[in-house]
Amino acid sequence: MKTPERFVVVSDNHGDMADAASVSGLWDFMADWKPTIRVHAGDNWDFRNLRKGASDEEKAASLGDDWNEGSEFLTKFFKNGRRNYFLRGNHDERIYDFANNATGLVRDYAQDGIKRIEALVKRCNATMLPYDSAHGVLDLGKLRVLHGYHAGVGACRSHAAIYGNCLFGHVHTIESAPVAALEPAEARSIGCLCKRDMDYINRKTGKLRWAQGWAFGLCYPNGEYALFQARNINGRFACASEVKHYGMHKMSHR
Ligand SMILES: [Fe+2]
Repeated sequence: MKTPERFVVVSDNHGDMADAASVSGLWDFMADWKPTIRVHAGDNWDFRNLRKGASDEEKAASLGDDWNEGSEFLTKFFKNGRRNYFLRGNHDERIYDFANNATGLVRDYAQDGIKRIEALVKRCNATMLPYDSAHGVLDLGKLRVLHGYHAGVGACRSHAAIYGNCLFGHVHTIESAPVAALEPAEARSIGCLCKRDMDYINRKTGKLRWAQGWAFGLCYPNGEYALFQARNINGRFACASEVKHYGMHKMSHR
């Protein structure tokens, strides 16, 4: 068996709504794990004032902090990665929607924003995919990664039925669901890196299922993979940063 590549997949830091303990835990973990494959599965920015139905207060707020924190996060996340991917989430996509649908100054702002994102992604040496249920799907061997196109309690099951073995963000929970198939198919929602308490969600009980975390693991040259989940437990993340193989084909990894 040839040497596998280490990967990490994160999602949903939401710009200036990022959870500081989770982000700091991620940087410490990545310094040890040193993944060569890095995937950001979307919602790197919050863009809450571009939301349909945004309050006047939200519309009046500056996007400055959101831009800065999101851009700093991507820059740091992709630094030293060998294969970097950024999958836009529905929040990131808002600026693309405004560039096509809005008029006047808002459209100009959105077009400038897109240029800014594209320059950043290029500097990060990353490949960017749109928020699109067909074209926003990344294949890492037998494992797919997407931002997420279903929400609610059935999200994992729906994604497993459509995409097979996959990781996704979007719903901000940590959970998984298998579907019956001759080839095993399981979708995993990998958690978020943002705060739970945001204004626009404060009365929804769905946020009580949110959890912070990320996925990581090994990709083998034949497309197979080994998957692990990091989870926030009172501001701490317990992650195995070394992997040993057991069974018929033993090999040590680091
Ligand atoms: Fe999100």
